[in-house]
Amino acid sequence: MRQITLGIDFGTSNTAAAVLDGGRPRVIALEPGKDTLPTAIFLDYADRRTLVGTAAVQAMIDGRYGRFMRSLKSILGTPLARERRQFLNEKLTLLEIIARFLTEVRLRAEAATGAHIKSVVSGRPVHFHSANPQRDRQAQIDLEECYRMAGFSDVRFLHEPEAAALAAGPGKGVGLIVDIGGGTSDFTLFRTAGNGIKIIASHGVRIGGTDFDRALNLALVMPQLGLGGELKNELGPGRNDVPPALFHELASWEKIAFVYGPDAVRDAKRMVRLAVTPAPLKRLVTVLEMELGHDIAFAVEAAKITANRDGQSDIRLDPVEKGLRPHLAQGDLLSGLWPYADKIRAAAQDTLATAGLNADQVDRVIFVGGSSLVGVIDRLMRATFPQAEFEYSEVFTAVVDGLAIAAGETA
Ligand SMILES: Nc1ncnc2c1ncn2[C@@H]1O[C@H](COP(=O)(O)OP(=O)(O)OP(=O)(O)O)[C@@H](O)[C@H]1O
Ligand SMILES: [Mg+2]
Repeated sequence: MRQITLGIDFGTSNTAAAVLDGGRPRVIALEPGKDTLPTAIFLDYADRRTLVGTAAVQAMIDGRYGRFMRSLKSILGTPLARERRQFLNEKLTLLEIIARFLTEVRLRAEAATGAHIKSVVSGRPVHFHSANPQRDRQAQIDLEECYRMAGFSDVRFLHEPEAAALAAGPGKGVGLIVDIGGGTSDFTLFRTAGNGIKIIASHGVRIGGTDFDRALNLALVMPQLGLGGELKNELGPGRNDVPPALFHELASWEKIAFVYGPDAVRDAKRMVRLAVTPAPLKRLVTVLEMELGHDIAFAVEAAKITANRDGQSDIRLDPVEKGLRPHLAQGDLLSGLWPYADKIRAAAQDTLATAGLNADQVDRVIFVGGSSLVGVIDRLMRATFPQAEFEYSEVFTAVVDGLAIAAGETA
């Protein structure tokens, strides 16, 4: 059978695969009619099956018996990745679970191309962990191990924004890829060289749309579950703040699946007993007992996208309590996202600094990634690069197109 090399953009939120076909990238429909596959997994305990993508999300929404996980890319390089955990009757590491997801990507790509696939050119962020070099190095080691477990014997990596630059190709003067995804923001400066491009510098920070979701969740939803409240002392007078740690985990996509369990429910019930205002903490008990953390995270993400488009939205928390719909106003979106947008701007400027260029020497800015559609980011980038022309690439497939180009002509 034919052997081909697959380009895979394993994203925090969405995954895509492509091959080079007749000199051009061809994105593979990993789900019928879709260019991307949600990076989501559901271990179905009733059927003893592993579901991925939209089927996994649907199983979670339907409340099937099992374990749902999303944003697993974020745990690469951390100690969580190699911890063995009990999932019904099996003990698995999260790396093994990612490998199941990548196996499914390989099998679907093989079915779509009719070829054998053992080689992959995978994207990786410039920094998985921009604040921790040791974790940053470990993350690629972890991801490579996942690919090997998934049946890929030849694994190469390319920085995601450099792949997007390859896909963008030659153009006027100096180009800057600004790729704001679910987990990281990545930048590549490049210029035209002959028929192709020359990379000048790349840089990245661990900030993305899942951070926006967490910030909005902590500001608008978690207070409805008790965050910010007070507890009476068990013995004697005095009050304490409700401990925030659990709420932070419940608002972080990659940690939600591991919050649940009898200990968390017991702690929450104890807090209800001690609460100055018990009603919000009763909702927390419901969320933990019914395992509604992902439902909340999806509701926040949907509201973020709607408010970004329409100026405002409601966060629909009916699964938690009928009619519970905190309002997400334009001001909340701005105040929640601004600190992150500002750090993303600083990282774009650092990219220029490493190359010794000024912002007004950038001729083209090419937006990539779902979070580049966020209005605050668009405005900030336009203010930062006043001389540049702005282009929206195929925001969800520019990276995988470039990975397919790097993977080379299929045999
Ligand atoms: N219209 C939109 N407005 C605002 N945000 C959006 C929109 N569409 C998608 N997003 C956000 O974009 C993010 C996903 O983008 P993308 O698919 O590019 O990320 P990814 O490639 O999976 O992540 P990464 O490259 O960081 O690993 C999510 O956080 C999602 O909420
Ligand atoms: Mg991406």
